[in-house]
Amino acid sequence: MSSTAVEYGTFEATVARSAAIEKELASNPKKFRVLTGDRPTGALHIGHLFGSLRNRVRLQNLGVPIYIVIADYQVLTDRDTFENIAANVRELTLDYLAAGLDPDKDTCIFPHSHIPELNQLLLPFLTLVSMAELDRNPTVKEEIQAAGLTRINAGMYVYPVHQAADILFCKGNLVPVGKDQIPHLELSRVIARRFNDRFGRGQEVFPEPHPLLSEAPVILGLDGGQKMSKSRNNAIMLGATEDETAKLIKKAKTDSQRQITYDPANRPEVANLLLIVSLCNGQKPEKIAEEIGEQGSGKLKATVTEALNEHLRELRQRRAEFAKDPNLVSQVLKKGTARAREVAQETLAEVRKVMNMEF
Ligand code: TRP
Repeated sequence: MSSTAVEYGTFEATVARSAAIEKELASNPKKFRVLTGDRPTGALHIGHLFGSLRNRVRLQNLGVPIYIVIADYQVLTDRDTFENIAANVRELTLDYLAAGLDPDKDTCIFPHSHIPELNQLLLPFLTLVSMAELDRNPTVKEEIQAAGLTRINAGMYVYPVHQAADILFCKGNLVPVGKDQIPHLELSRVIARRFNDRFGRGQEVFPEPHPLLSEAPVILGLDGGQKMSKSRNNAIMLGATEDETAKLIKKAKTDSQRQITYDPANRPEVANLLLIVSLCNGQKPEKIAEEIGEQGSGKLKATVTEALNEHLRELRQRRAEFAKDPNLVSQVLKKGTARAREVAQETLAEVRKVMNMEF
């Protein structure tokens, strides 16, 4: 195994490769099959919109086939609660649809718990990695720390292998992810390679999936210092009303300097608010800062509120409409599940064949 060991790292190489792929996407969209996804832990916030949703919609509209896995089993790796999973899947799906992901295009949204043939790939995949490799995964280590787990369930160590099944069941070759997911992608690549070597005897059954690092900006929470997240109570949810949005921004942390400048290193809270405006209206943060100038943080906050509420208005209207239809989410997931299962069945048949398990 040592010659093809999992290599965590090589970030520069990943960035360069992403940039090259990005160029090809526009000219040859059908060459790619994008697979990406989320854990259903609740409704999404503006950090998700600017960080990943907008990029997915862009890929969809370029004509790239895109599979979006709702990783419901994965939720059970770092928490005991499962009572909210169904409600969370619903909220997540509504956010996807409101953001512009469209099941009538080449976009398939499905929960992995409903694709038995995908889950079945986990068993052969588990035989292709060592315990030591799973134990070394830096993202898993961080998650164990962050959740303060004292008793770690085996699913926590194994979920990156399950994630390989999420990606490879549909022969996904491109995975738009944030930096924290790169170790998992590296493992998926190793699993694809080892599967092809061992069972395919060199024939390519699975492609090696590439990460697509978008230039996703990191949006800080309204309390400044840390990443925006619902659990830290510092987020603006996509589905929030305009009034709620205004109230949250009013309470956002800034600093005591009156003159507004764009200085992310020394004035992270102000810079974050300027970045949000910039993501909404496409103007440069420096320019927005200059225009506000002496008018201080009151004017800055009014500008953020207006820009955000305007930018989200259509999305929120769509979300409210979609939420009124009690059947929409289950229809979307049913359609996605049927399509994902069809693909998964084909892949599993191929896997059984090369594994000499056709009886
Ligand atoms: N691990 C991802 C997260 O926590 C969610 C996920 C599950 C995923 N399966 C995936 C992401 C496959 C990309 C591809 O956000």
